[in-house]
Amino acid sequence: MSERGVFNSALQRFVDHLPLPAAVIDETGRLLVKNTAWTEAAAASSADFVREPPASWPAPQPREDQMFWLPLETADRFRTYLAIRPAAASGEGEKDVRRRALEEAFERYHAAFLVLDRKGRILWMNALFRRWFFVPAAAVGRPIADVFRHLPEEQTPAPKRLIAGGEVREEPFTWMRNGKPLHLVRDSYALGDIGAVLLAFKEIGRYANIDDKILRADRLATIGQMAAGTAHEIRNPLTSLRGFLQLLETSLAEHGLEKEREYVHLMLKEILRINALVDQFLLLGKPQAVRYRKLRLPAVVAEIVPVLAGEAMLHDIVLENRVQEPLPPIIGDPELIKQVLLNIVKNAIEAVERQGTITLTVDVDPEMRTVHLNVHDTGPGIPPYLVDRIFDPFFTTKKDGTGLGLAVCQRIIQDLGGQIRVISKGFGTTMQIVLPYVDDTESGAAEARGRKRDTEDPNGPAPDSIR
Ligand SMILES: Nc1ncnc2c1ncn2[C@@H]1O[C@H](COP(=O)(O)OP(=O)(O)OP(=O)(O)O)[C@@H](O)[C@H]1O
Ligand SMILES: [Mg+2]
Repeated sequence: MSERGVFNSALQRFVDHLPLPAAVIDETGRLLVKNTAWTEAAAASSADFVREPPASWPAPQPREDQMFWLPLETADRFRTYLAIRPAAASGEGEKDVRRRALEEAFERYHAAFLVLDRKGRILWMNALFRRWFFVPAAAVGRPIADVFRHLPEEQTPAPKRLIAGGEVREEPFTWMRNGKPLHLVRDSYALGDIGAVLLAFKEIGRYANIDDKILRADRLATIGQMAAGTAHEIRNPLTSLRGFLQLLETSLAEHGLEKEREYVHLMLKEILRINALVDQFLLLGKPQAVRYRKLRLPAVVAEIVPVLAGEAMLHDIVLENRVQEPLPPIIGDPELIKQVLLNIVKNAIEAVERQGTITLTVDVDPEMRTVHLNVHDTGPGIPPYLVDRIFDPFFTTKKDGTGLGLAVCQRIIQDLGGQIRVISKGFGTTMQIVLPYVDDTESGAAEARGRKRDTEDPNGPAPDSIR
């Protein structure tokens, strides 16, 4: 070993025994040796941890950052200084705050973190790392290899190639925990000058379904755009078809061609059906000429109930309306709310098929400031594996269904800042329409949101001040 080498290894042993962050630095500011405490402190501090030592040989003296410099050797060849950082003073310094903030962040982020020095000793680990890998907090300062010595090296969280500074990104790593596999991905970062290694472990089980979700959101967005785009294209030719067919119908009648006239009549009826479908499409894309205002839910429900009850009665179903005042008002377009109710009650009738009850109820959640309009039916319920899909456009289990009903409802309600929830536990279904309410005295966001102001509100005078 060279003279210098001997000198350095002696220095290393010396600083290793010091209880404070200590390092030996040459006159150019180059770090020759340092102890673990130094590495750890440096890891938690900002970049300029190592400074150039003072130009002259001063007596040991504190500098503004409280670091002590001790000249070690005055021989020209090895001008070195011992730099010692005292432990943090009683008051919390800026660096301690920063360090604690970082530690807190690393604790809260849902990933396991481990920081090692170049020798593989544990400098720091977060709680999740300790929990996942069963490492006691007391293991700080010990070589990680000791902690996992009973395992083949590659199966440990920190194999040698990573301790040596090898970097990996999202390397799959499976850890057996209580006999169950924990599927993780591992990142490792060599923390350059600090001489430490950071290992991060993320759980991929949490993201197992994310592909599905992204795919579905993608599909829904596409359908929405497609719907808005194509609906108009379909509607225009339909309008002229309808016009000409009506002419044809009249002239066939004039010529006494009764059978032909009947065919044309049927064609017109089908065209009306297509038109209604296109209307739904347009709603999916972007609601048309919506008139938002402050509404009294019981009044709106009361207006549509006779229609719903009539339809229900045809199927031997009793429709019970328990939606009553007092209720705080909501913001919405009464026609759209009726359409939502119509769709949902139609579904309920189709689910019950024959004989049963459909009940409309309301409740209020003062904490969330929402009203819940519940449509409960005594039908067969919705199987759990379908619940997630019933709001998808075109999802239907019916022979003649379009699968657009609930998609449109959800869209309408979401535009009001609400949502539709499903409660179905095997028997019967409750569709819950959740809507934010406004104070009775509040002017509400009605006009702010509304595209067109409506003055003929059957449910009371429209508020005139705008928030
Ligand atoms: N109350 C309910 N009980 C049981 N299943 C329901 C209920 N409401 C909806 N569903 C299920 O959700 C699916 C989607 O409903 P949605 O209203 O969107 O379309 P649809 O009723 O099938 O077709 P359309 O509304 O055009 O007639 C239905 O096919 C049905 O399987
Ligand atoms: Mg439906």
